[in-house]
Amino acid sequence: MEHVVEMLNITKAFPGIVANDDISIQLRKGEILALLGENGAGKSTLMSILFGLYTPDAGTIKVFGKTVNIANPNVANALGIGMVHQHFKLVHNFTVTENIVLGMEPHVGPFLKTRDAAAKIRALSKHYGLNVDPDAKIEDVSVGMQQRVEILKMLYRDAEVLIFDEPTAVLTPQEIIELMKIMRNLIAEGKSIILITHKLKEIKEIADRCTVIRRGKVIGTVDVAGTTSAQMAEMMVGRQVNFNVDKPAKQCGDVVLEIKDLRVQSSRKTEAVKGFSLTVHGGEIVGLAGVDGNGQTELVEALTGLRHVESGSILFQGQDIAHHSIRDRIRAGMAHIPEDRQKRGLVLDYTMEENMVLEIYGLPPFAKRGFLQKPLIRAYAEKLMQDFDVRAGEGSLSLARGLSGGNQQKAIVGREVAHDPMLLIAVQPTRGLDVGSIEYIHRRLVEQRNSGKAVLLVSLELDEIMDLSDRIAVISHGELTGLKYPKETNEGEIGLMMAGVAEGAHQ
Ligand SMILES: Nc1ncnc2c1ncn2[C@@H]1O[C@H](COP(=O)(O)OP(=O)(O)OP(=O)(O)O)[C@@H](O)[C@H]1O
Ligand SMILES: [Mg+2]
Repeated sequence: MEHVVEMLNITKAFPGIVANDDISIQLRKGEILALLGENGAGKSTLMSILFGLYTPDAGTIKVFGKTVNIANPNVANALGIGMVHQHFKLVHNFTVTENIVLGMEPHVGPFLKTRDAAAKIRALSKHYGLNVDPDAKIEDVSVGMQQRVEILKMLYRDAEVLIFDEPTAVLTPQEIIELMKIMRNLIAEGKSIILITHKLKEIKEIADRCTVIRRGKVIGTVDVAGTTSAQMAEMMVGRQVNFNVDKPAKQCGDVVLEIKDLRVQSSRKTEAVKGFSLTVHGGEIVGLAGVDGNGQTELVEALTGLRHVESGSILFQGQDIAHHSIRDRIRAGMAHIPEDRQKRGLVLDYTMEENMVLEIYGLPPFAKRGFLQKPLIRAYAEKLMQDFDVRAGEGSLSLARGLSGGNQQKAIVGREVAHDPMLLIAVQPTRGLDVGSIEYIHRRLVEQRNSGKAVLLVSLELDEIMDLSDRIAVISHGELTGLKYPKETNEGEIGLMMAGVAEGAHQ
């Protein structure tokens, strides 16, 4: 069997944690090898080693049968290894072409030959069905397009081995289908792929083999065709995972949030939310379904005070807060799990301790007569991290930046739920989480509801919306196109409403 990459007995430690503990994986030519493991299991670390971002403490790497020393990403590129990172690394005010050629700008003498580069990019884009405009600026294109730019970046450097670190976590269902197609095209051209994903459905659909990692160690490698999703999940978390959400029937309480005829503009000054109205009661989870980019982001930003409201009202427990400050809304009992965990959720260069009290450090008991009560803050942060199973090498003293993606997410969810808010606005709360953590977060959201609190769940995952919601609201082009009880509808109908077909319009 021809192996394009072999990582043998790789060990890598960070302060307080062995991220990779004697891991071996082998990638065959022309296959898709999935890497599956809990949040913090060590997947991104292992791939960062292969891409030359980290040096292993021990172990050997062979590429096309030859032992190599991958000292930095340039060496990886030269060996034909490319990587799409969990959090993209693009320069936002550069064009697609500028980003792709960055670091290897084509030139003749001192003259840049960007036009040649653009032509090559166009040809590659066409060949692999990537549909990328070389002249567009990164800040103007969708997340799905940014990812395709990252893919092009690898292809432009003639990569033979492509690493995808959770490529679908940030994509819409439609974009995921597109990405699967692109991956199949890449394999058909003889490339080999390592795919990190938490979604067992995707592994079943596209991967040939799957290596399971738990707490830095390899548990085993299986042929995907002969293994069920439940078996892989169990290998990964070491116990059976309950994929169903248990939700007792419940009478909902008083109105907590009443959005009335809300109008909000997008950053480009177009109308993003167009006269949107919705109520959320205590004791209920209202799921907001929609295709990405249909006004959800602007709606949530308006509700939480991050964006100006043009007109309409937001009644929170009877009071119009449409023009209140973010802080006043938080103090009134609103909490928010944001869409972008690195931009809005955490201060990456603060410790976890500081991050866990970000919104409340100025309040008693954490501050007394203007002094921070450090021991109290530490105990509070540590308890939260324990409850939500947030794993970090140096516990509450770890910098947020050093946490794995899923652990960052769990920390934010923990922090917001801990405020026990009257209204929790949860945007993509389980993005990037392993199946065990998803089960836990879902349970906590349902507990909020059971205790009489209101939850507005905004998610691109239709499964999540169907499983958790007491009522489902559908948004399309900034308007409410449907309001349904999950029992009285199905994914097909919700899908139609998401596409803008109003409730009852189809027979
Ligand atoms: N630069 C770093 N400094 C300190 N600790 C780190 C660093 N990078 C990773 N770690 C730690 O190593 C462990 C493995 O992290 P890694 O990012 O590889 O996990 P992962 O399997 O990719 O998880 P996820 O599914 O959440 O992305 C984690 O406990 C993390 O906190
Ligand atoms: Mg990771």
